[in-house]
Parts: sequence; C-alpha cells; structure tokens
Amino acid sequence: MPNERKREFGQVVNALKQSAETKFQELKTALEAQAEQASAQGIDLTAPGEPLPLGARHPIAITMNRIIEIFSRIGFAVADGPEIEHDWYNFTAMNTPEDHPARDMQDTFYVVDAPGMLLRTHTSNVQARVMTTRKPPIRIIAPGRVYRNETISARSHAQFHQVEGLYIDEGVSFADMKQTLLYFAQEMFGAPKIRLRPSFFPFTEPSAEMDVWLGTDTEENYRLTKGTGWLEILGCGMVDPQVLENCGIDSRQYSGFAFGMGIERQALRLFGIPDIRLLFENDVRMLRQFAASV
Ligand code: DAH
Repeated sequence: MPNERKREFGQVVNALKQSAETKFQELKTALEAQAEQASAQGIDLTAPGEPLPLGARHPIAITMNRIIEIFSRIGFAVADGPEIEHDWYNFTAMNTPEDHPARDMQDTFYVVDAPGMLLRTHTSNVQARVMTTRKPPIRIIAPGRVYRNETISARSHAQFHQVEGLYIDEGVSFADMKQTLLYFAQEMFGAPKIRLRPSFFPFTEPSAEMDVWLGTDTEENYRLTKGTGWLEILGCGMVDPQVLENCGIDSRQYSGFAFGMGIERQALRLFGIPDIRLLFENDVRMLRQFAASV
C-alpha cells in the first residue's frame, strides 16, 4: 500500500475484522445453545456418524486379480490393449485374413462410422499390440473385456472377459508352455493334473485346449465337468511363425507360446454363481455378498 492510502485501507480491514468476529461469536453462541438443547434432549453431537457403506470388488475383478497375481509370481507383466480395435490387430495380424472361415466363429459388432474398426472379439489383439511395439523377451498377460455378436443366455453373453498370455524368447518350447499352465492349474484350481487336447486356432501351431482335473467327488464338480472330472478352461499353443513375422519378430530366432481363457466361467465356479447374466445386471444385493471376499 502506498503510504497515503494506508490509513483508509486499515480502517476498511478493521471493519471487516470486527464484523467477522461478531459473526463468529454469534454462530458460536448459537451452536453452543443448540448443543446444550440437544444434550438436554439426550442427543450426543460428538457421537460418531452413520458408517458409509463400503463398496465391494466385482466377482469378475476378484477372479481376474487372482489370475494376475498367480502369473505375476512367475514374471508375467500386465499389458493392455483397446476394446475398440482395428481389424488388423484383432484378426489379420493373428493370421485370420478377411476371407478366413475362423472369422465366422467370432462375429462381432462393427463401428459403422469407422470402416475397419470393431469391438475386439478376444484379448489376442494385445499379442499383436505388444509384439509390434516391443522386442523379445516378452512375457505378458492381458486381462480385459471382449465382445461377440451372440444371443444372451445363462451360459453366454455378448460381452465377457478374457485373460491372454504370451511368452516370446529364444528357445521357448511346448514343454515350457505345459509346465507354466500346470502351475496355473495348481494355483488357481488346486488341480493335480491337466490335459492338453489337440485343437485349432489360426494363430498357434500346434494348438491345444486345456482341461483341468477337478474329479467327480463332489456333486458340484460332477455337474461342472458333466461327469468326466475334466473342466475345459483355455486355448493355447505355440505362436504361429507367421504371426511373429506379421508383427515384425524374426521367427528363425524367436519362438513362443500363447494362451487365452475366459473369466466368467471361472468366476461362476469360484463363487458358486449359477447364471452368467447375474454378473452383468449390477444388482447390489448380488454384488454386496462379495464385499468380504476382496
Ligand atoms: N483367442 C481365442 C478365443 O477367444 C483363445 C486363445 C486360444 C488365445 C489359443 C490364445 C491361444 O492366445 O493361443 O477363442
């Protein structure tokens, strides 16, 4: 403040201070009176308030986190990719060109305004995303949401979740894949053994489907495994050299394995939930039950 204005300014500030102090005293007296009145009525204003209800993790998130935790213990890092994806990453790079019959099994939703864009049908797109941007060794898992153009029923849904796995390095073999997946089956399901059945996926060669042994000792396991004791949980295989080449990785130097599994069925089993639709209805009465399971 310039000297000649200090006096005038000081007066204004003083007036403000005084009015604030008066206001403060008024409020204080009023509140004290209120508290006295309340305690006279037996109300304790210092008592703790109503507890805020805590949220709960969704059963799918709990299941996914468990899978992530199991693989992170053996050096797999989490990778991510877009759900609205370019055709190339979802299909073409994964050895499923436009006229390939395997595309029929994974019909999806296409973005009308953006030709070539679609909702990803599997988390395998992250394989292409990672391989085109990183150098081996690559050891990732990729959890996330995927979409299919499917009728909604108790067993299937047009949106669901998967976890993808990819391991690329020099000299990676089928035996490495088998041991990694056995470890997972033991940790996740307490399963003593796994079974690999020959299968086909465009992006792996050879390909297999993996079953875990649950046995038929309990009624639930009998029902889940349809009396066979075996529960199918994932597809896997050695990454097709063509996929490596599509993504700019030298297939003479590197090899690897990949796998992909659905989450919903595992969540249903883990929590004894009978219908897949319950996972997507967001009914808090259903979700609240898992507050303690985090
Ligand atoms: N993407 C496949 C599906 O959605 C699952 C799968 C199979 C993923 C084999 C893989 C794999 O990485 O190697 O049906």
